[in-house]
Parts: sequence; structure tokens; C-alpha cells
Amino acid sequence: MPRNASRIAVGAAAAVFIVVFVAVILVMAPGGSNPRPAATATTASVATPPSGQPDQAALIAQGKDLAAQLGCIACHSTDGSSVVGPTWKGLAGRQVELADGTTVTADSAYIRESIIDPDKQIVAGFQPGIMTGAVQNQLATINSGNNLDALVAYIESLK
Ligand code: HEC
Repeated sequence: MPRNASRIAVGAAAAVFIVVFVAVILVMAPGGSNPRPAATATTASVATPPSGQPDQAALIAQGKDLAAQLGCIACHSTDGSSVVGPTWKGLAGRQVELADGTTVTADSAYIRESIIDPDKQIVAGFQPGIMTGAVQNQLATINSGNNLDALVAYIESLK
């Protein structure tokens, strides 16, 4: 348990670092429409993020906060280790084996459903009921505003 705890701490620290790093880059990146001499134009265009990224970074940060606040990270690691539930690391796009023997691609719809209706599809090797018991009282918070989008965006950011 202490080893897992310290790995989670390292993972969390790394995640915070990445979020801050991306935020700094986004803040410092110059706008694409700046007229510049040809010599510096290449550098400027490389540093300019595609539009929409600042919103995504904020959504991911919100999801990270929620995952801590709602207690998700007591059962889910972000570093690849299984705690009580499956790790979130690399979940997005992965082929997930289910307890009924079928396989599903972890797209956004699957991740959303896994959060609001955890017992609908059970990951192979895990028991039903464990997550439901922990999150059913928090569904109001999860479903309010863009919290569910934020949780999904955060989980999908954990490559
Ligand atoms: C008490 C432990 C526990 C808590 C707290 C918990 N989960 Fe889970 N979670 C599980 C278990 C066990 C599974 C695997 C069984 C299943 O598929 O439902 C799971 C499955 C998942 C999956 C699917 C993972 C995969 O590999 O397909 C997602 C996504 C998920 N949880 C998100 C969340 C979020 C978001 C929260 C917080 C709001 C949360 N969980 C809170 C135990 C927990």
C-alpha cells in the first residue's frame, strides 16, 4: 500500500506538472495573426496551439480536481497500477475486456457510461457493486454542469 501511495503521489505530481507546463505554453504562445518577419514566423507558428486547447486544458484540470474531491482516485490509479479498480492510465481508446467475455473500445461514450452506470459493463477481473456503492451518492455532483465532461476529459488525458 505505501508503495502504491507513493506511486500515486508521483503520478499526481507529474500530472500537475504537465497541466501547468501546458498552461504556461498556451499562455505564452503568441497569436497566429501577428505580422512577423519571415525569420521568426516559423518559430511563432510552431508554438501556436490549435484553437480550443486552452478550454480543454481547463476542463482536464477541473476533472483532476473532481477525481480527487469525489474520491475516485482512492480506487483508480493514474500510473498503470491496479488499486481497487482498473488504472485510468492509457484507458482512452484501449480494448477493454469485460466480465461477460466481450470486448469494448474505451471511447468517450464508454467512459461516460462507466462513470454514471458502473454496473452496466463490468471490467474483467473486477467485481460489480464496488464502484456503484461509492459513487451513487455523488451522481448529482457528477451530473451537474460540465463535471462529467471534465472527468472524461481528465481520464482521456492520461495516456
Ligand atoms: C470504491 C472504489 C471505486 C471508486 C470510489 C470509484 N471507482 Fe471507478 N471502478 C471501480 C471498479 C472496481 C471498477 C471495475 C468494475 C466496473 O467495471 O464497474 C471501476 C471502473 C471504472 C471505470 C471503467 C474502467 C475501465 O478500465 O474500463 C471508469 C471510467 C471509472 N471506474 C471511473 C470512476 C470515476 C470517475 C470515479 C469517481 C467519480 C470512480 N470511478 C470511483 C471502483 C471504484
